[in-house]
Order: sequence, then structure tokens, then C-alpha cells
Amino acid sequence: MAANNAQEISEADIDPSVAPLFQPIRIKSLELKNRIVMPAMGHGKARGGVLGPSFHRYYQMRAEAGTSLLIGEASAIGDPVAPVEPDQTHFHSLWPLTDWKQIAKVVHEAGAKIIPQLWHVGMIRKARSWPFYHLPSRGPSGLYITPTDGTPMKEPVQQSEPMTQADIDDVIAIYGQGAEDAKRLGFDGLEIHAAHGYLIDQFFWHVTNRRTDGYGGKTLRERSRFAAEVVKECRRRTGPDFPIFFRYSQWKIQDYGARLAETPQELAGLVETLVDAGVDCFHASTRRFWEPEFEGSDMNLAGWTKKISGLPTITVGSISLDKELVPYTIRRQVKDEKAKLTTITNLNRLMEMFNRGDFDMIGVGRAMLSNPDWTRLVRAGRLDMLQAYDADSLAKSTDFPDLAAPPSRGH
Ligand SMILES: Cc1cc2nc3c(=O)[nH]c(=O)nc-3n(C[C@H](O)[C@H](O)[C@H](O)COP(=O)(O)O)c2cc1C
Repeated sequence: MAANNAQEISEADIDPSVAPLFQPIRIKSLELKNRIVMPAMGHGKARGGVLGPSFHRYYQMRAEAGTSLLIGEASAIGDPVAPVEPDQTHFHSLWPLTDWKQIAKVVHEAGAKIIPQLWHVGMIRKARSWPFYHLPSRGPSGLYITPTDGTPMKEPVQQSEPMTQADIDDVIAIYGQGAEDAKRLGFDGLEIHAAHGYLIDQFFWHVTNRRTDGYGGKTLRERSRFAAEVVKECRRRTGPDFPIFFRYSQWKIQDYGARLAETPQELAGLVETLVDAGVDCFHASTRRFWEPEFEGSDMNLAGWTKKISGLPTITVGSISLDKELVPYTIRRQVKDEKAKLTTITNLNRLMEMFNRGDFDMIGVGRAMLSNPDWTRLVRAGRLDMLQAYDADSLAKSTDFPDLAAPPSRGH
């Protein structure tokens, strides 16, 4: 396995072409030893909301390989209707938080930093989902859209009442509680998941936000109010120095072609509102990092976000892979999903954009599922040792028979 071979690589080996990625960076109280980040990747294997020991090793391996920052997989905040399904990890309550505290400790001992990703899925949760099937899902206008299977977007369906002011206040307070818990448990910051069509993004997106009160409106700036209030509450509960990362995207799991902003001016409405609210770092989620975001410039979304905000940004999307992320609804059926490793060309382009200052950090997702030691191998220029990503990589990444949970006794 590549992991064993990689141990033979000397720490002194550093490929000059990627050396700039190995400079430290500071974001408020967070000191990162390099620019390589593992983005949040949900496994859907958290029985009762708890990840457990195989995940401790999963995170530990990426930390030991020299990755500077690990973002925990999307974790439901303490609203019963925050997750899509019960086996997604939680960031509330004694058992899941006890487990997350241990994960943070393991990662710190291995020399990396870690932040949780606070998540509310909003209207992506289907009505009458177990176990709280009597509770309606929450969203700005109560509209449900089926996640895409690669075909054009499905029509929105009215599934519940729009959130009331009391609902909005409750959910903002619950995000704040998650932020406070992140700090109390020893995390190095937090990331707010406002991307991919989940609750906060449902407020951003005109298709799912049809409100006529102060949380809706014709402009993206107006529809950014809910996100700004979430950020302010997280700041209020954690103090001025605790780093707040904010992940957002144009694309949605309901429609991969969706766009919140057609122009840099529209994007500024969102970004400036969030800078004022207290964000410290933006994580601009794209599926292909090399794609220009707006006409007339070859900068990507992270580049534009940095230019507008003046803050550090993370870019992401098919780094060291030659196939972009496919909808999760069809992922399991894609038998030939082998994103073969590339090509130096992909990393060359990445370094060109990094070296001219478009973004400050890079997020490596699927390639780090199939290569726990991605950072060590790339640092040494050993791209030849990287394993391809395929549809089994997710399951394999936490498959440690010696740490397997005992079989469930059922409910
Ligand atoms: C299995 C899987 C689970 C994911 N889960 C999350 C998640 O929990 N939160 C999130 O913001 N993005 C999630 N993503 C998106 C990744 O963070 C990343 O943005 C995406 O995979 C693109 O990067 P890549 O091309 O390097 O894989 C997930 C992606 C995959 C493949």
C-alpha cells in the first residue's frame, strides 16, 4: 500500500514545484504549518451520530501525513431536523461530542489542526424522516427539491410552512451552541457549511427563498442576512480570536449548474455581508478548481472571493484528479468511477494560480480518501505513488477490521 511505501520518504525530500504550499499561514489564533486542507467528507456511518474509533484512525492518518488542517465531516447541529438521516454525525449531545473531543485530541497529537463543520440540511431532509417523522423540515420557504441525478433540476415542491421568525431565532441559537461547543472541546476554529444547497444556501438561492420579509429579497445581498446572523451568533459565542471559516458554493446538490452570482458585483453582496458579520476565511467550493468563475478573467471562485474580501481563501475541486465530483445519488451506481491520477498538468495549473496569489490554501477531497498520505507524497514529488480514486475509496477509508464496531443488536 502506498501508506507503507510513503514512510520510506525522507522528510527532507521536497519537490521545489510544490514548496510554496509548505509555507505556514496564520488565521487569528490558528497557526497552520502548510496550505493543505482536507475538506469535509461525510461517510454516513455514524451510528447514533457517533463516528467511533475507525474514524479516529482515519483522521489521524491524514494528520500524520502532514496535512495541516482537517475539516470534520458535516455534522448536524442540535436541531432534530438538521440531518438528512440518523447515521450522519452530530455536533451536539454527550455521546457525539465526547467522540469529537477524542478525534480533536488524536489529530492534535499527530501534529495537525482540526475544525468541525456545522451543518443543517434544511429542506434537503425529506418530510416524515425517521426518527422525528412528526416534525416538518425547515427552510426559508418550505420548498423541497429532489437532489440531482445528473438530469436537469426538478421542480420545487411545497413541503412545509416557511420558517417563522421564532424558527429562525431558534436555529441561529443552535448554530451558536455548536460554535461554543467547538471552542469548549478544544477545536481550532469552526466551519459553517453554507454550500451545496443546504439550509443556509437555501436562503441565498432565489429558487428556494421566496420570502418577502427581511430574510428574502431580489438581491443576493438581501438574501445573505440569515447567514450573517448565524456568523454573528457564532462570533458572539466564541470571542474575537476564534477562527470562523465559511464554506459556500454556486452549485447545489439539487442542480449542479445553479449560480447564486452571475457577476462579481452580485458576489460582492454575499461576500461583503459576511466579512462584516465576522468571517475569517472563505472556503469557495467548486468541482473543478481551474474553471474561471466570471467572463473576462481566469480567476476561479476562491480567487474572486479573496479579491473582494481581502481575506484568506481555500480552493477545492478535482485537485490531482481528472474527474469531477458526481451527484451522490448516482455515485454508487457509477462502476467505472476511476478518477485516475493525473497528471502533472493539473498540479502545474494549481501552482500557477497559487503562486500568483489567487488563494491561500487548497482542499484535497477524494484524492485524500484514496491516499491518506497525499500530503507526504505530493511534498516529495512522488505523484507516481498516488492511488486512483474509485467508488470504493470512501468505504475503504475507514475500513479497519481491528477497530470495527460490534454488530448492532437492533433497536
Ligand atoms: C464522499 C463525499 C462526501 C462529502 N461530504 C461533504 C461534507 O460533509 N461537507 C461538504 O461541505 N462537502 C462534502 N463533500 C464535498 C467535498 O468536500 C469536496 O468539496 C468535493 O469532493 C470536491 O473536492 P475533490 O474533487 O478534491 O473531491 C463530499 C464529497 C465526497 C466525495
